[in-house]
Amino acid sequence: MPRLTSLHPFTRLGIALLVITLLGGYAVSGLHLQWHYSNRDGIEGMTLDDIRGHYHGVQSPSPLIAALESGHPENLPDPERNALLEWLRSGTNLSEGYDDLDLGDMAPAEIIAVNCLSCHSRSASGPDAYAQLPLEYWDDIQPIAYAKDIQPTSEEILAMSQHTHAPTMAVILIVLALLGAMTRTPKALTGLIVFVGSAGLLADMAGWWLARSNDAWVYAIVAGGFCYAAATTLVGIFVVLDCLIPARRPVADD
Ligand code: HEC
Repeated sequence: MPRLTSLHPFTRLGIALLVITLLGGYAVSGLHLQWHYSNRDGIEGMTLDDIRGHYHGVQSPSPLIAALESGHPENLPDPERNALLEWLRSGTNLSEGYDDLDLGDMAPAEIIAVNCLSCHSRSASGPDAYAQLPLEYWDDIQPIAYAKDIQPTSEEILAMSQHTHAPTMAVILIVLALLGAMTRTPKALTGLIVFVGSAGLLADMAGWWLARSNDAWVYAIVAGGFCYAAATTLVGIFVVLDCLIPARRPVADD
């Protein structure tokens, strides 16, 4: 195996710059992923449900309806419970009825203020308080008011996306694997990292399809993608360092 140190300094510098560009590009696509997926489940920020929604779909009932139906909180009078349930089941535009003045004390906002905020406010304290889930404002309520029905991305779009992603990502790791094997980093170390990253990429790409029917594969997508990204970054860093750090002594033999 030729060594990177035996290449001309300009070539090594060039390779270092290219790998830095490559890693920069991956950092940007990480950001893109975050922006692209983060609101799929209606909750701010990237969560596992965003990814599950994309590859498997997510159907879950409204947490608010579920809590009320299960009899929570115990001492909520039936008329108030029914008024809240009726409102929550009334359709898609719940914000309108939320603080409807015509409803007086039976407006959802009023019922919640009287019956829930003693436990569900940011400042609630005490043994029964649940300040983690404040219900003070519409913005607090909205994320748990609706049932979720996220349909998975169509097979057509999945295929279109994979036909560019799989080959490029594989080729990048192949190139980095070869470059990595030409560095002074211990071969077993780069080898192991490349192996883990490759297995990760395969699991990730296969997971895109398998997760449609079995959502356990969502974990393979996430873990596989992480292994691939970590391997690419690590081997990339090895290559950059090896290109920039001069050989201790000139290569005497060949
Ligand atoms: C006596 C305190 C108390 C009152 C009053 C109360 N809650 Fe809770 N609530 C809790 C606690 C504690 C939890 C977390 C433990 C649990 O799930 O039971 C919780 C959990 C919840 C959850 C989340 C369940 C989940 O899926 O994790 C919802 C939704 C909820 N409450 C809605 C309400 C609403 C709506 C009201 C008023 C109509 C209300 N709560 C009144 C104490 C209270």
